[in-house]
Amino acid sequence: MVLLGIESTAHTASVGIVTERAEVLSLATDMFKPLHGGIHPREAANHHVEVLPGLVAKALDDAHIRPSELDAVAFAQGPGLGPCLRAGATVARMLALTWNKPLVPVNHCVAHVEIARVLSGIDDPMLLYASGGNTQVVAYGSGRYRVLGETLDVGIGNFLDKLWISMGGTFPGGPAIEAEALRGSELLSLPYSVHGMDVAFSGMLTATLALRAKGAGKPDLAFSVENTAYSMLTEITERALAHRRRTDVVLGGGVACNERLRGMVRAMAEGRGGTSFAPPKSLCVDNGAMIAWTGHLALGAGLSVPVERSAVQPRQRTDLVPTPWR
Ligand code: ATP
Ligand code: FE2
Repeated sequence: MVLLGIESTAHTASVGIVTERAEVLSLATDMFKPLHGGIHPREAANHHVEVLPGLVAKALDDAHIRPSELDAVAFAQGPGLGPCLRAGATVARMLALTWNKPLVPVNHCVAHVEIARVLSGIDDPMLLYASGGNTQVVAYGSGRYRVLGETLDVGIGNFLDKLWISMGGTFPGGPAIEAEALRGSELLSLPYSVHGMDVAFSGMLTATLALRAKGAGKPDLAFSVENTAYSMLTEITERALAHRRRTDVVLGGGVACNERLRGMVRAMAEGRGGTSFAPPKSLCVDNGAMIAWTGHLALGAGLSVPVERSAVQPRQRTDLVPTPWR
């Protein structure tokens, strides 16, 4: 079986082709990067409409797959920005109808989690899903993924992006802050906001910008933000492991590209006698391969839909979608 998956929930348009053994045959991605400020949903959607046909052609070409050889078309149904979701869903519906293939809706958050899980080889891990809009500690239980802890305000990636843009940088902020932090050494005091298994970042945003206004340098600010924010994530992941009596952690989402976060979680997990795993970076950030892979799981459980029941779901939470393949 071979599936084509389309991702378009936010800034990134991407098409992946994946086999039933989770081999990524091709991945064609194009990220919308505004010159100034954050993401405007309509501008991002226009970008996706423009690039998706070329990405589909490139993915098929690179995978040496003809449309007739595909078993289904999967797309990210939500959560995400409405106009962006509709751009990808429209392309997916058109392809499914033209090629006469099943259409498989996939939850974007579950897809981040499932691609990380299959690549880890760990059957039932604790998952730290850290991305732009979401920051969740997730474990499977009784038919769906359960959110054990999460951000009470913004996702960690959105926090990093907003901070970096407010300091004069451009989107995406996470990788830029990672590079800047390598030149920092002084740990400045910032709000450490952990509430049980939840976290919050808006206080840290305000405090960091206030320190910047008083003249603190970007490298030390970046160093301090990374150490504080990633310690918070490591702490709630450790608490979830302890409560669920687990040892193994799998990271997913764009912020899981971060080497400092990977290192902190690894040290914590290994200190408890367990392991941690993070996928290659191209499969941590938004990508069509994770949609195609989760499409395999969903299709195997009979979850394809007719076009008229394929409406996008901009607010579809991780813990609201059944995962009957587990
Ligand atoms: P969500 O999955 O919540 O819908 P998203 O789809 O917008 O979020 P992803 O592509 O999963 O986003 O993640 C993008 C985020 O990852 C951005 O906020 C970006 O700054 C952050 N990011 C990417 N690379 C790094 C890095 N090396 N360090 C920290 N953050 C990073
Ligand atoms: Fe994402």
